[in-house]
Amino acid sequence: MADDFEIVASNARIVLDSRGNQTVECDIFTPYSMGRSSAPSGASTGKTEVAAFPKGGAAASLEFFNSKVRRSINGFNALDQKGFDALLGEIDGTENFSAMGGNLSTVLSIACAKAVANGMGIPLYRYVGGMGVSVPDPLGNVIGGGKHSRNGTTIQEFMVSAQGKTFLESITVNSLVHKRIGEKLQEKLKDQSIGVGDERAWTAPISDDLAIDIVTEAAKEVTSESKVNVRVGSDFAATSFYNNGKYVYRNHTLSKDDQIDFAVSLIKDRGFFLLEDPMEEGDFDGFASITESTGKRGIIVGDDIYTTKASLIRKGIEKKSSNAVLIKVNQVGTLTSTLEAVEVARAAGWKNVISHRSGETTDDFLAHLSVAFRSSLIKSGTIGGERLAKLNELVRIQEDLTS
Ligand code: PGA
Ligand code: ZN
Repeated sequence: MADDFEIVASNARIVLDSRGNQTVECDIFTPYSMGRSSAPSGASTGKTEVAAFPKGGAAASLEFFNSKVRRSINGFNALDQKGFDALLGEIDGTENFSAMGGNLSTVLSIACAKAVANGMGIPLYRYVGGMGVSVPDPLGNVIGGGKHSRNGTTIQEFMVSAQGKTFLESITVNSLVHKRIGEKLQEKLKDQSIGVGDERAWTAPISDDLAIDIVTEAAKEVTSESKVNVRVGSDFAATSFYNNGKYVYRNHTLSKDDQIDFAVSLIKDRGFFLLEDPMEEGDFDGFASITESTGKRGIIVGDDIYTTKASLIRKGIEKKSSNAVLIKVNQVGTLTSTLEAVEVARAAGWKNVISHRSGETTDDFLAHLSVAFRSSLIKSGTIGGERLAKLNELVRIQEDLTS
């Protein structure tokens, strides 16, 4: 059996992501199968996440693959995912994949798992998740700014999550909200410029307060028209506008305490169901105040604060900083470390929200991992080919699971 899954060849190349930036793709071959994966890249990265590329960018990763990786993984048993991921760490030789880059380790790790799943003739979600799998709800960015556009809101993302009877119904309703918001922005802004950001959310030179009004109004209207409940949430990505102990918005500045009150009010007074990174990434206590004040009413998600690292999630559990974690594979660089993060969170009763990056490829591994990890939600936008590669794959997976 092991011989059937021996790595007999591998290959890597440079491709472009949805921002038009270079990234890496890799193929791993066993005697009877192949796995291929390409990696996304973030713009709003956490301080503790592994860097996507070493100095020299994707070209340096490719050079590292050709000179150091290809030969070392030849002959390895791809069934041993944990061993393979450990081997990647050894080949890299640093603590955090800074020699090969987190994107190269990610695509090698995922391609290895895909090669095995393909060789076994089972879907990736089944190979990684076993029998206890489930389909998440979609969480899609509809208005945004921050580091994802030039002149949008200070808050990075306003998101919606429809609760349809099927995944297809949910993503259809999410995209109806996206359309409705476009109409509302056009009506309000007349000739001023409206555009879309990196994740295809609308972006316009408006205040965060106006964005809150527009997104909650659109969600309400579409809920009543479609009879499908649409919830509203937000990823503040608060580190990106934190400066000298203050949160600096387009038109005003908030102290730490005011920022906590503002975040809590979105859940308590404006009906938001989810807040991601409402405080800067070092503020475990500020996160905890929000989580405590909002209680069971809100999902408080940590992204930059944990960067998918089990050790930081454990710290968050101890401090009761949140009740959910954002999961991005290339923040830690291997499937094994990502699984560890998911398991640590699950053991504490936390939800996990799996996420795309702002610069994406058409690889759909995220859809499979969301099912394998029993994620409550998948963040993968509402429209755009690279986002829909994941969302449409979940339509197929749901069909598979219910047929
Ligand atoms: P990214 O971040 O731009 O690093 O992908 C998105 C997010 O903050 O969730
Ligand atoms: Zn985030």
